[in-house]
Amino acid sequence: VTIGDQTFERGPQGATHQTADGDTPTLTTQQGVPVADDQNSLKAGPRGGTLLEDFHFREKIFHFDHERIPERVVHARGYGAHGFFELTDSLSDYTTASVLGKTGTRVPAFVRFSTVAGGKGSFDLARDVRGFAVKLYTEEGNWDLVGNNMPVFFIQDAIKFPDMVHAVKEEPDRGFPQAQSAHDNFWDFASLSPETVHMLLWIMSDRAIPRSFRFMEGFGVHTFRLINAEGKSTYVKFHWKPKQGLQSVVWNEAVKINGADPDFHRRDLWQAIESGDYPEWELGVQLFDDAFADQFDFDILDATKLIPEELIPVRRIGRLVLDRMVDNFFAETEQVAFCTQNVVPGIGFTNDPLLQGRNFSYLDTQTKRLGGPNFTHIPINAPKCPFHNFQQDGHAAMHNPKGRVNYEPNFWGAGPRENPKTGYRHFPDDNGRTTRERGELFADHYSQARQFYISQTKPEQTHIKNAFVFELSKVETPNIRSRVVAHLLNVDETLAKGVAEGLGLKELPAPAPAARTPITDLAA
Ligand code: HEM
Repeated sequence: VTIGDQTFERGPQGATHQTADGDTPTLTTQQGVPVADDQNSLKAGPRGGTLLEDFHFREKIFHFDHERIPERVVHARGYGAHGFFELTDSLSDYTTASVLGKTGTRVPAFVRFSTVAGGKGSFDLARDVRGFAVKLYTEEGNWDLVGNNMPVFFIQDAIKFPDMVHAVKEEPDRGFPQAQSAHDNFWDFASLSPETVHMLLWIMSDRAIPRSFRFMEGFGVHTFRLINAEGKSTYVKFHWKPKQGLQSVVWNEAVKINGADPDFHRRDLWQAIESGDYPEWELGVQLFDDAFADQFDFDILDATKLIPEELIPVRRIGRLVLDRMVDNFFAETEQVAFCTQNVVPGIGFTNDPLLQGRNFSYLDTQTKRLGGPNFTHIPINAPKCPFHNFQQDGHAAMHNPKGRVNYEPNFWGAGPRENPKTGYRHFPDDNGRTTRERGELFADHYSQARQFYISQTKPEQTHIKNAFVFELSKVETPNIRSRVVAHLLNVDETLAKGVAEGLGLKELPAPAPAARTPITDLAA
């Protein structure tokens, strides 16, 4: 048959068969096997039954059955776009982060805007906070600024987040409503939690019904740190300022738009970017130190407070431009995983108890939502700079270490190594106790080994010696045998010499340098 200017083949029941030719590729199974008929399952005769042998049919249905993944526990409804971030004013006095170092630095970006309370299929113009999550793919790894369109938050401590979200979302018995308005549970929680009051004012304001994502501000909310080459920390609040300006609708309009076009915000972003009208935001920072922070009668670690812009004007240091829609909504917007703990060297956390909780929560939920520990291998989440580590296996592992070495330290000189010069360093917290060092009393590795050895009877000591000789004789690399004997010399000389002799070592190595002198007289 010919429909319009196209010709199709028709099967016996009238099904349309579009066959591969010219530029149209051949349909294949997941295994790459060409498919001859995609309209009819394989049956035992024209009236069935359907045969298990039809692997294409089974694969197609099986894959469809597994299409859904859990929606985000909050911010389920979102819309993402690609773009870039360009630095216009260097912060190199304040931070070693390369993305904030040299003016003109440009890195790829992915942004996901969202509502918080509604499910994935809810409408765009709910009275709600909007998520403003930005992933910058820098040359030092991914930096996520997981912000909102309001500068403060409902609660001060992450331990209240599950309660707050339960109260905001649908009530468990009736399964509605999705938005805050006219909602007993939310207002019950809010009225019993005075820390919500500042945020209540924001959420009742026009900011909660933005005209589109393009006309919103963004805020990192928490106080973060910038850390410079001398190790000095400066507090920072991050802001996104829309070049388009700030615009909202009124409630009457919001209600009508939700009815007429529940996809109003995502359609707006799609149309703007597809027509070349690229939305743009400036990145702004408020920088301050401890002395300034101490002047306030609130704590700068409290996410229900902002730093007044009259006191510290926002310094504009860069621009974010969104210029490309996703190729595939699920692969990119749905699978993108932002996390507050994704920071780069030169950017640090504070003890804000909301931020500390978020640093755990996102990774935890994404491990479930995206099916295991390897969601960082999904292209939208993978860094665009080189990355190497010894993490391996798990569902859908794509970047297992190559070769025999999957640990360090190792003798083979293979694989990635830590880098004290460029590696991430956590800033000590306010009490100065944060450290990676182990105490001096962790440094004696030999005394109790000796104690165990000398507590054994002579025949048992011989068994130990023989076991070392047997096991180490299977080690092909002589150097490794000598290293073990060098440790045994700090445990018991007779044992060490016996093992060396049993292994046929040509010479006895020097004892391994001991970080802490082993106690020789254990009885004393
Ligand atoms: C998701 C912002 C507080 C847990 C999100 C998203 C944003 C966001 C923008 C959506 C990310 C995306 O587009 O994929 C914020 C801000 C907060 C805040 C600005 C306060 C300043 C919290 C707290 C917790 C939390 C306190 C938990 C302790 C989550 C979780 C998700 C999420 C579990 C879903 C993540 C996913 O499935 O990928 N948040 N949030 N948030 N947030 Fe928050």
